[in-house]
Order: sequence, then structure tokens, then C-alpha cells
Amino acid sequence: MSITYERDRKITREQFVDLLVRSTLGERRPIDDDACIDAMLANANLTITAWDGDHLVGVARSVTDFAYCCYLSDLAVDSGLQRAGVGRELIRLTQAALGPKAKLILLSAPKAVGYYPRVGFTRHENAYMINATEPLR
Ligand SMILES: CC(C)(COP(=O)(O)OP(=O)(O)OC[C@H]1O[C@@H](n2cnc3c(N)ncnc32)[C@H](O)[C@@H]1OP(=O)(O)O)[C@@H](O)C(=O)NCCC(=O)NCCS
Repeated sequence: MSITYERDRKITREQFVDLLVRSTLGERRPIDDDACIDAMLANANLTITAWDGDHLVGVARSVTDFAYCCYLSDLAVDSGLQRAGVGRELIRLTQAALGPKAKLILLSAPKAVGYYPRVGFTRHENAYMINATEPLR
């Protein structure tokens, strides 16, 4: 099977949600919130997709300034194609779109905590997050 990769090819909400479900990442993404999914697709500014013909089989969806930071929000590969190098290629193509000073940053899903160090990521002890609705102290 030959997989092709595209940068910033438009995908529909239905294609994206279907892939999230097929990859299992749908368990951890707001797949029932159409407005949120639409905003995720419309406002990401670096999306690499993997295709088996016209069938979406992988995605790396990022928000980035292309020069310093790139938040890789969603990396998902169709369950039937996992561990065949698609995820690594999606990350490689994301890196290739960035300038030399840029870093990829992400939060791992529990199922993927072994994956990122396997492909070369370093765990960062100083990462923090807060919800948009959470009052600051
Ligand atoms: C995690 C995920 C994106 C990895 O993509 P993939 O195409 O399956 O992985 P790759 O083929 O690029 O794997 C590269 C290497 O990592 C290994 N690997 C894959 N998934 C792994 C995992 N969950 N834990 C540890 N190692 C893993 C592969 O065996 C491969 O090893 P090799 O170089 O010895 O062959 C994919 O499995 C997936 O979609 N998982 C479910 C959704 C998810 O958790 N996404 C991450 C959100 S943060």
C-alpha cells in the first residue's frame, strides 16, 4: 500500500472526526462538539495529512509561528496502519515545515507516552498548563 502525504490539504469535520475515532484519539478529543472541531480545523496553521488514495489515514495538526514554537496538538494514525512509520513521517514533515530554531511541543495521550521518546522527543519537566476558564490566583 502506498501512502501519500499532503500539507494543508483541506479536510472536512467528518473526515477528521472519523480518523480520530479510528485511531482511538477520539476518546480524548471533543468529537461531539462541532463548533470546537470546526475551530480546530480552521485555525490550525500547519496540518500534515496521510492518505491511502482518497481515504484519510493520518493527521498531524499543529499551531505554530514557524520560527520558534510549534504546538503539535493532534497526531493520529488509523489503527489498521499503526506502527508502519506513518506517525514518524507526519512528525518529520511537520519538522520540515519549520525554521531551524523551532521546537515541537506536545502533550502526550496516555497511550502514546512510550511513543514520543521512542522517536526522539525529550520529556520536559517544566511544562505547565491552565484552562482558559480557570481563575488566576
Ligand atoms: C501514537 C501514534 C500517532 C504513532 O503513530 P504510528 O504510525 O503508529 O507509529 P510509527 O510507525 O511512527 O512508530 C515509530 C516507532 O514507534 C513505535 N511505536 C508506535 N506506537 C508506539 C507506542 N504507543 N508506544 C511505544 N512505541 C510505539 C513503533 O513500533 C515504531 O518503532 P520502530 O521504529 O522500532 O519500528 C499512533 O499509534 C496513534 O494514532 N495512536 C493512537 C492515538 C494517539 O495516542 N495519538 C497520540 C496523541 S498525543
